[in-house]
Amino acid sequence: MRITLAGLRHFLLGLMLFLPVITGAAYAQTKGAPASQAQSPESRAAESRAAESQAQRQQVQPGNNAPTWREARSGKEEYTSVKGRETGVLIQNDGQTWRKLRNGPIMFYGGWAVVLMLIVLGVFYKVNGPIGLHSAPAGKMIERFSAFERIAHWAMAISFCILGVSGLVMLFGKFLLLPLIGHTLFGWLATLGKNLHNFVGPIFMFSVLVFIVTFIRDNLPRLYDFIWLVKGGGVLTHEVVPCGRFNAGEKIWFWGGVIGLGMISSASGLVLDFPNFDQPRWVMMIANVVHTVAALWYIVWALTHMYLGTAGTTGAYDGMRNGYVDETWAKEHAQYWYEDVKAGRRELPSGKQDAAPATTAPQTQS
Ligand code: HEM
Repeated sequence: MRITLAGLRHFLLGLMLFLPVITGAAYAQTKGAPASQAQSPESRAAESRAAESQAQRQQVQPGNNAPTWREARSGKEEYTSVKGRETGVLIQNDGQTWRKLRNGPIMFYGGWAVVLMLIVLGVFYKVNGPIGLHSAPAGKMIERFSAFERIAHWAMAISFCILGVSGLVMLFGKFLLLPLIGHTLFGWLATLGKNLHNFVGPIFMFSVLVFIVTFIRDNLPRLYDFIWLVKGGGVLTHEVVPCGRFNAGEKIWFWGGVIGLGMISSASGLVLDFPNFDQPRWVMMIANVVHTVAALWYIVWALTHMYLGTAGTTGAYDGMRNGYVDETWAKEHAQYWYEDVKAGRRELPSGKQDAAPATTAPQTQS
């Protein structure tokens, strides 16, 4: 290759133009700041003024290093050799705002909501007792849930309970459990809770999807659901209000609890579970607040459901545990569904036909 004089002149010119940029970047790197942030004379002057006033402050208020902390919390990106989003930000003030929100109103109102709901349910049970049957049990059982339906329900319910308990330990444990059981036991418990929470979360999400597909057909709203709601399900008036396989209260729990809060807590939980998707801190903080509020609301609501599914309604738990309920129970709690099964208009949950379908004309749903 021949080196011409013109070529050499171009090369030297280029070197002269780029040299300041290259040396500037190298200098900025050794000073710990990216090339784009090389200091101007103004910022150097401002820094020396700040150092001066900090030195004066130390005279009158020894130990007060507020400016240092103000700068650290500003969220300004500094140099680090660790590559990744915000790796150059040590701390920032939004984290304090998030911490105050979480340890303040969210814990206060959420914690009291859980406690109050337990008290309300206890008082309600003491005053009203369980919702019983109006007529004597028939002594003949009818299939209410197939094995698959029960597995779908319990997979969701058990994973929900594990998430609920481990979540509450993570939220309140430091304040309520740590003083009682000490650092060693609490550290062990919190680590267990965190790992259970992280791994059971996806199981819950999957079981919610299976549950939705299994039960959505029987949760579609019907006109008689509005009548049921207006009459409050007859809980206080002690009357039997007819409904389909599930009453309007259960349907609201299905749409608002299982689908609504289930989706919100799952989506925000996934954001928290996978920080390696490079989401910035503000996204994690918002996801944490949304997740915690939705989960607390979910727990409070689930308590009423658990109450109604056990002590609150005579015979309901048998259906979900063994799959069968007394025919009087079915007639009083799911009249239209019972009549449809008896009349042969729909199959039993396991897909079989009822043993003795009615031979009479279909009954009207008045
Ligand atoms: C762990 C305690 C739980 C108990 C004892 C329990 C009990 C029951 C019982 C007995 C039923 C049947 C009611 C009937 O025959 O109409 C039922 C239905 C139902 N359960 Fe639970 N359950 C629990 C947890 C959960 C949780 C955590 C969820 C949601 C995340 C849930 C969602 C539902 C729904 C939506 C229905 C009604 C079916 C529907 O509308 O599709 N359950 N439960």
